[in-house]
Amino acid sequence: MKLLAGAPGWTAQADVIVIGSGVAGLTTALNLRSSGLSVLLVTKSHINEGSTKWAQGGIAAALGPGDTPDQHKKDTLIAGAGLCDAAAVDVLVSEGPEAVRKLIARGAVFDKSDTGEIALTREGGHLRNRILHAGGDATGAEVSRALLAAVQNDSGIEVIEHALVIDALLSEDGKACGITLHVIGAGSRDGVGRALARAVVIATGGLGQVYSQTTNPPVSTGDGVAMALRAGAKVADVEFIQFHPTVLWRDTSTGGQQPLISEAVRGEGALLLNHRGERFMVDKHPLAELAPRDIVAKEIFTQIKESGQQHVWLDATGIADFVERFPTIYSSCMANGIDPTKQLIPVAPASHYASGGVLVDLNGHTSVPNLYACGETACTGAHGANRLASNSLLEGLVFGARIAANIVATIGEWLTPAEDIGNEFLLSPNIQLPLQLAMSQGAGVMRSENSLKETLSVLEQLASMQSSQPCIEAWESTNLYLLAKAIVRSALERTESRGSHWRTDFPETSQDWHKRIIQELDKKGNWSSHLEEVYS
Ligand code: FAD
Ligand code: SIN
Repeated sequence: MKLLAGAPGWTAQADVIVIGSGVAGLTTALNLRSSGLSVLLVTKSHINEGSTKWAQGGIAAALGPGDTPDQHKKDTLIAGAGLCDAAAVDVLVSEGPEAVRKLIARGAVFDKSDTGEIALTREGGHLRNRILHAGGDATGAEVSRALLAAVQNDSGIEVIEHALVIDALLSEDGKACGITLHVIGAGSRDGVGRALARAVVIATGGLGQVYSQTTNPPVSTGDGVAMALRAGAKVADVEFIQFHPTVLWRDTSTGGQQPLISEAVRGEGALLLNHRGERFMVDKHPLAELAPRDIVAKEIFTQIKESGQQHVWLDATGIADFVERFPTIYSSCMANGIDPTKQLIPVAPASHYASGGVLVDLNGHTSVPNLYACGETACTGAHGANRLASNSLLEGLVFGARIAANIVATIGEWLTPAEDIGNEFLLSPNIQLPLQLAMSQGAGVMRSENSLKETLSVLEQLASMQSSQPCIEAWESTNLYLLAKAIVRSALERTESRGSHWRTDFPETSQDWHKRIIQELDKKGNWSSHLEEVYS
């Protein structure tokens, strides 16, 4: 299956193509370069667009005195609600500290304490201070700055911006050997083209735009997961969409990207209050406001439903150095008419992170030979049913390095793409808004068989809105459609509640569901799924 697009008018090539310029793509590209392989890095918008630059809280790694990878592992497994892949978590937490040191060696500067040590804070689900941060709450911007500077200094990495990857090119025997892409450029590389490579790494980030309100930027339309599905790759755990508990509530008609109020604000002492001014997390979990994210999101959602209000409150007025510690959050609150040093902040959950994605092994291989996936696009199994805060930037660093090492060790010959064999499709950009509304309504924080079936029926109606006019909005909308379908299918199949998947009609966690749902699409667009045991 492919997206409808014009015939490629130009060709490029490199040993390895990396798609995406977030922490995952940049880390992979930089690590590949130490081997001398040529790298083509393509990215949909401006090079610094993506979730990475928005990251606030920080990077989790066992670097503090007395902390160990084993303690980090325990917290990760608890947050993951029984569905983490233990081997993937081991890799994440044990290779994490070295990956962070390498990032520092590449120029990233983290905040220091008064004694000159790296300052560590806390976030939900962490039993100790373990989170490195930069610029107070601008960690992602610093990570992005440092990695981009390194990439821009490397003449062996060719970058094409405003390059939306459409589909993977496969050889006759089903191995990835390139991509088709659309570039808004100048000169010979403009419009639809193709790029050939010996290995392709998808690092296209998240899919938050499937929902009406999200912390994710507009580029997060899940293109890489949709492209991998069309190429025949397996995806897993897609029902586990993490809703961040504390997103600045503006009003229900404000769609798209919303300002995040980092969990680190609660880590520094902010309290959640209901409309009666009472703390409501205290008797819900021993960690109260710092319980794992899914638990806090569910309680906020319950408070909102029971009170008939649209949000709860976050009281950060007790944080003496708020302005210095959280400058980004301070200015986004002020821009919305709230002074967080004096006033309560209205907050509500919004879609934030895809714990699932393209199923990969410990070296980032997807089920399609020569095709790798890294970062939020991938499902390594390290996050299980709910990602532990600040484990995502870490995952990009750790697995980006592993993928690069694996490609260097195993890269194969150049292959020729097979003839295109039809089965192209494209949906109208007009589906985007109703799709987002239907997903937020029926497949959000809380789901049930009824709500999911209603969402599925909206999706089926939207599928009839075909388009014959390829354009960026149509490609993105069609990708959103495929992902929405995958999420709803898995959410319907999982008849239990676990982590960030909350079924009101199946409120308990079931031992029978200690399994992962794996989905795939065949060449004609038929879906299938199967279950696999998880070893955690
Ligand atoms: P991204 O950084 O999203 O990069 C994806 C790239 O792919 C972009 O360059 C995009 O333009 C490109 N792309 C997408 N589609 C295409 C296409 N079709 N063709 C070509 N290019 C494409 N995690 C933490 O660990 N700690 C935090 O403190 C934290 N805070 C967060 C705060 C916010 C507001 C958000 C949104 C997320 C936060 N996260 C945090 C999550 C974390 O930032 C992301 O999961 C992580 O940055 C993802 O990195 P990535 O490289 O996989 O994707
Ligand atoms: C936050 O700062 O609350 C976001 C952290 C994360 O998503 O890991």
